[in-house]
Amino acid sequence: MVSFKNLCLSALALQCVASSSLFARDEQNPLKSTILPGEEPVPGDSPVAICDASQKQLLTIDLVDIVPNPPARGANLTVAAVGHLHELVEEGAYVDVDVRYGYIKLISQTYDLCDEVGEVDLKCPLKPGEYKLSKTVEIPNEVPPGKYVVYARAFTKDDKYLACITATVVFDVDSWKILGIGRD
Ligand SMILES: *[C@@H]1O[C@H](CO)[C@@H](O)[C@H](O)[C@H]1NC(C)=O
Repeated sequence: MVSFKNLCLSALALQCVASSSLFARDEQNPLKSTILPGEEPVPGDSPVAICDASQKQLLTIDLVDIVPNPPARGANLTVAAVGHLHELVEEGAYVDVDVRYGYIKLISQTYDLCDEVGEVDLKCPLKPGEYKLSKTVEIPNEVPPGKYVVYARAFTKDDKYLACITATVVFDVDSWKILGIGRD
Protein backbone atom coordinates (compact mmCIF):
# COMPACT_ATOMS: atom_id res chain seq x y z
CA MET A 1 0.00 0.00 0.00
CA VAL A 2 2.99 2.29 0.29
CA SER A 3 3.06 3.27 -3.34
CA PHE A 4 -0.67 3.78 -3.24
CA LYS A 5 -0.26 6.21 -0.38
CA ASN A 6 2.38 8.07 -2.32
CA LEU A 7 0.03 8.34 -5.24
CA CYS A 8 -2.60 9.75 -2.98
CA LEU A 9 -0.28 12.42 -1.78
CA SER A 10 -0.47 14.00 -5.17
CA ALA A 11 -4.11 14.71 -4.59
CA LEU A 12 -4.23 18.35 -5.47
CA ALA A 13 -2.36 17.56 -8.60
CA LEU A 14 -5.39 15.51 -9.55
CA GLN A 15 -3.48 12.29 -9.38
CA CYS A 16 -4.78 10.73 -6.28
CA VAL A 17 -8.12 9.42 -7.12
CA ALA A 18 -7.29 8.35 -10.57
CA SER A 19 -4.44 6.41 -9.09
CA SER A 20 -6.83 4.56 -6.86
CA SER A 21 -8.13 2.91 -9.95
CA LEU A 22 -4.99 0.84 -9.96
CA PHE A 23 -7.12 -1.63 -8.08
CA ALA A 24 -9.27 -2.28 -11.05
CA ARG A 25 -9.25 -5.57 -12.82
CA ASP A 26 -11.92 -6.02 -15.45
CA GLU A 27 -10.16 -5.73 -18.76
CA GLN A 28 -13.36 -5.25 -20.74
CA ASN A 29 -15.05 -2.40 -18.91
CA PRO A 30 -13.43 0.96 -18.40
CA LEU A 31 -13.91 2.38 -14.92
CA LYS A 32 -16.37 5.23 -14.74
CA SER A 33 -17.12 7.68 -11.99
CA THR A 34 -19.51 6.48 -9.31
CA ILE A 35 -21.68 9.52 -8.76
CA LEU A 36 -23.30 9.87 -5.36
CA PRO A 37 -25.52 12.74 -4.21
CA GLY A 38 -23.43 15.90 -3.94
CA GLU A 39 -20.95 14.66 -6.52
CA GLU A 40 -20.29 15.53 -10.14
CA PRO A 41 -18.43 13.56 -12.79
CA VAL A 42 -15.08 14.75 -14.08
CA PRO A 43 -14.70 14.85 -17.88
CA GLY A 44 -12.42 12.20 -19.31
CA ASP A 45 -11.86 8.50 -19.10
CA SER A 46 -11.44 7.72 -15.40
CA PRO A 47 -13.40 6.87 -12.24
CA VAL A 48 -12.76 10.31 -10.75
CA ALA A 49 -15.56 12.54 -9.49
CA ILE A 50 -15.86 15.88 -7.71
CA CYS A 51 -17.29 15.62 -4.20
CA ASP A 52 -18.87 18.32 -2.03
CA ALA A 53 -19.81 19.80 -5.38
CA SER A 54 -22.23 22.32 -3.88
CA GLN A 55 -19.33 24.01 -2.13
CA LYS A 56 -17.13 26.49 -3.94
CA GLN A 57 -13.74 24.99 -4.74
CA LEU A 58 -10.72 26.93 -5.96
CA LEU A 59 -9.50 24.22 -8.30
CA THR A 60 -11.55 23.39 -11.38
CA ILE A 61 -10.78 19.97 -12.76
CA ASP A 62 -11.30 20.00 -16.50
CA LEU A 63 -10.15 16.52 -17.44
CA VAL A 64 -8.74 13.30 -16.03
CA ASP A 65 -7.74 10.42 -18.27
CA ILE A 66 -6.08 7.20 -17.24
CA VAL A 67 -4.37 4.86 -19.67
CA PRO A 68 -5.12 2.03 -19.71
CA ASN A 69 -8.63 2.17 -18.27
CA PRO A 70 -9.12 -0.09 -16.48
CA PRO A 71 -5.50 -0.31 -15.34
CA ALA A 72 -3.65 -3.59 -15.18
CA ARG A 73 -1.68 -4.74 -12.20
CA GLY A 74 1.97 -5.32 -12.82
CA ALA A 75 1.85 -2.73 -15.58
CA ASN A 76 2.32 0.99 -15.94
CA LEU A 77 -0.54 3.40 -15.53
CA THR A 78 -0.47 6.88 -17.00
CA VAL A 79 -2.62 9.60 -15.49
CA ALA A 80 -3.18 12.81 -17.39
CA ALA A 81 -5.09 15.72 -15.89
CA VAL A 82 -5.95 19.30 -16.69
CA GLY A 83 -7.15 21.80 -14.13
CA HIS A 84 -7.50 25.49 -13.40
CA LEU A 85 -6.34 26.93 -10.14
CA HIS A 86 -8.17 30.09 -9.16
CA GLU A 87 -6.07 31.19 -6.21
CA LEU A 88 -2.45 31.13 -5.11
CA VAL A 89 -1.50 28.04 -3.12
CA GLU A 90 1.26 28.63 -0.61
CA GLU A 91 3.10 26.72 2.08
CA GLY A 92 0.64 25.56 4.69
CA ALA A 93 -1.87 24.12 2.23
CA TYR A 94 -2.93 20.63 3.17
CA VAL A 95 -4.92 17.65 2.00
CA ASP A 96 -7.07 15.28 4.04
CA VAL A 97 -6.97 11.81 2.52
CA ASP A 98 -9.37 9.01 3.39
CA VAL A 99 -9.11 5.58 1.85
CA ARG A 100 -11.61 2.92 2.77
CA TYR A 101 -11.25 -0.69 1.81
CA GLY A 102 -14.67 -2.23 2.34
CA TYR A 103 -15.50 -1.17 5.87
CA ILE A 104 -11.88 -0.77 6.86
CA LYS A 105 -10.23 2.62 6.95
CA LEU A 106 -6.85 2.13 5.34
CA ILE A 107 -5.76 5.73 5.43
CA SER A 108 -7.17 8.73 7.24
CA GLN A 109 -4.50 11.35 7.30
CA THR A 110 -3.58 14.94 6.62
CA TYR A 111 -0.63 15.69 4.39
CA ASP A 112 1.30 18.86 3.63
CA LEU A 113 0.29 19.69 0.10
CA CYS A 114 3.44 21.58 -0.80
CA ASP A 115 5.55 18.64 0.34
CA GLU A 116 3.69 16.42 -2.05
CA VAL A 117 3.32 18.37 -5.28
CA GLY A 118 6.95 17.58 -6.07
CA GLU A 119 5.67 14.14 -7.03
CA VAL A 120 4.27 15.75 -10.14
CA ASP A 121 7.17 18.16 -10.63
CA LEU A 122 5.40 21.17 -9.15
CA LYS A 123 6.63 23.52 -6.48
CA CYS A 124 4.85 25.87 -4.11
CA PRO A 125 3.76 28.59 -4.39
CA LEU A 126 1.37 27.44 -7.11
CA LYS A 127 0.17 30.39 -9.11
CA PRO A 128 -3.37 30.67 -10.39
CA GLY A 129 -3.75 29.36 -13.93
CA GLU A 130 -3.96 26.23 -15.98
CA TYR A 131 -2.09 23.08 -14.99
CA LYS A 132 -1.55 20.11 -17.26
CA LEU A 133 -0.09 17.07 -15.61
CA SER A 134 0.94 13.63 -16.70
CA LYS A 135 2.48 10.94 -14.58
CA THR A 136 3.23 7.29 -15.11
CA VAL A 137 3.36 4.91 -12.21
CA GLU A 138 3.97 1.19 -12.03
CA ILE A 139 1.06 -0.72 -10.53
CA PRO A 140 2.05 -3.37 -8.01
CA ASN A 141 0.95 -6.89 -8.73
CA GLU A 142 -0.18 -7.69 -5.20
CA VAL A 143 -3.37 -5.77 -4.58
CA PRO A 144 -6.14 -7.31 -2.47
CA PRO A 145 -9.53 -7.66 -4.17
CA GLY A 146 -12.43 -5.60 -2.86
CA LYS A 147 -14.00 -2.19 -2.95
CA TYR A 148 -11.90 0.91 -2.46
CA VAL A 149 -13.32 4.36 -1.83
CA VAL A 150 -11.00 7.34 -1.86
CA TYR A 151 -11.64 10.91 -0.78
CA ALA A 152 -9.10 13.69 -0.98
CA ARG A 153 -10.04 17.14 0.28
CA ALA A 154 -7.51 19.89 -0.23
CA PHE A 155 -7.43 23.29 1.47
CA THR A 156 -5.30 26.42 1.37
CA LYS A 157 -3.31 27.42 4.42
CA ASP A 158 -6.24 29.58 5.52
CA ASP A 159 -8.76 26.76 5.07
CA LYS A 160 -10.28 27.77 1.77
CA TYR A 161 -11.60 24.76 -0.11
CA LEU A 162 -9.32 23.85 -3.01
CA ALA A 163 -10.77 20.56 -4.18
CA CYS A 164 -12.70 17.49 -3.18
CA ILE A 165 -11.89 14.47 -5.31
CA THR A 166 -13.28 10.98 -4.98
CA ALA A 167 -13.28 7.62 -6.72
CA THR A 168 -14.77 4.22 -6.07
CA VAL A 169 -13.16 1.16 -7.52
CA VAL A 170 -14.10 -2.48 -7.09
CA PHE A 171 -12.14 -5.41 -8.19
CA ASP A 172 -12.98 -9.05 -7.93
CA VAL A 173 -11.16 -12.04 -6.59
CA ASP A 174 -8.89 -13.43 -9.26
CA SER A 175 -9.27 -17.14 -9.63
CA TRP A 176 -5.75 -17.44 -10.96
CA LYS A 177 -4.52 -15.92 -7.74
CA ILE A 178 -6.50 -18.23 -5.49
CA LEU A 179 -5.10 -21.13 -7.42
CA GLY A 180 -1.64 -19.71 -7.00
CA ILE A 181 -0.86 -19.62 -10.67
CA GLY A 182 0.70 -16.79 -12.59
CA ARG A 183 -1.42 -14.27 -14.32
CA ASP A 184 0.09 -14.27 -17.77
C1 LIG B 1 7.10 1.04 -16.66
O1 LIG B 1 7.83 2.08 -17.28
C2 LIG B 1 9.19 2.10 -16.93
C3 LIG B 1 9.79 3.35 -17.52
O2 LIG B 1 9.47 3.46 -18.88
C4 LIG B 1 9.86 0.84 -17.40
O3 LIG B 1 11.22 0.82 -17.03
C5 LIG B 1 9.15 -0.35 -16.77
O4 LIG B 1 9.69 -1.55 -17.26
C6 LIG B 1 7.67 -0.30 -17.06
N1 LIG B 1 7.03 -1.37 -16.31
C7 LIG B 1 6.20 -2.23 -16.87
C8 LIG B 1 5.63 -3.26 -15.97
O5 LIG B 1 5.91 -2.18 -18.05
